[in-house]
Amino acid sequence: MDLIRLICISSATTIPTDRELKELLDGAKVRNKKRGVTGFLVYKNGTYLQVLEGERETVENLFNIISQDSRTAGIVKLKDESITQREFAHWHMGFKNLDGANKKDSPAYVDILDDGLDIKNINAIEGRALSLLLNFAKKEYISQ
Ligand SMILES: Cc1cc2nc3c(=O)[nH]c(=O)nc-3n(C[C@H](O)[C@H](O)[C@H](O)COP(=O)(O)O)c2cc1C
Repeated sequence: MDLIRLICISSATTIPTDRELKELLDGAKVRNKKRGVTGFLVYKNGTYLQVLEGERETVENLFNIISQDSRTAGIVKLKDESITQREFAHWHMGFKNLDGANKKDSPAYVDILDDGLDIKNINAIEGRALSLLLNFAKKEYISQ
């Protein structure tokens, strides 16, 4: 089995309410479980940053589905690499809303999404996306 990790970033077409985010997550968790997909989604300032892990074809198909979702636009694939082990094995889709988070909360992850999704800062985000997401690959986020 060819296991991959895909990281992507996109812009919300409208600012989601807490209820809309919950609906998105609840659906994603159920479908990802069926497809053997694990991962994590971070939202901040109208930007989604997401990691997906699973069998290559399944993950690539899911990426295409998300690309066509009207809730999001301008999706960019930051990383697509073969892996031997999952980092987000505890979540079919974990979630953290970083709106309102500041440097005191966690200096490691806060600034990367501050400027929204601009092609000019894609390179900077690309280099740090995995380390940002790995901050959440900890047991304390399992129930969220
Ligand atoms: C930012 C974002 C992330 C999403 N992540 C997932 C996901 O991890 N898994 C999933 O099944 N759907 C996810 N979705 C929802 C899909 O885009 C799509 O609505 C869902 O798979 C239902 O597709 P269908 O109507 O073709 O069945 C996401 C949507 C958005 C906007």
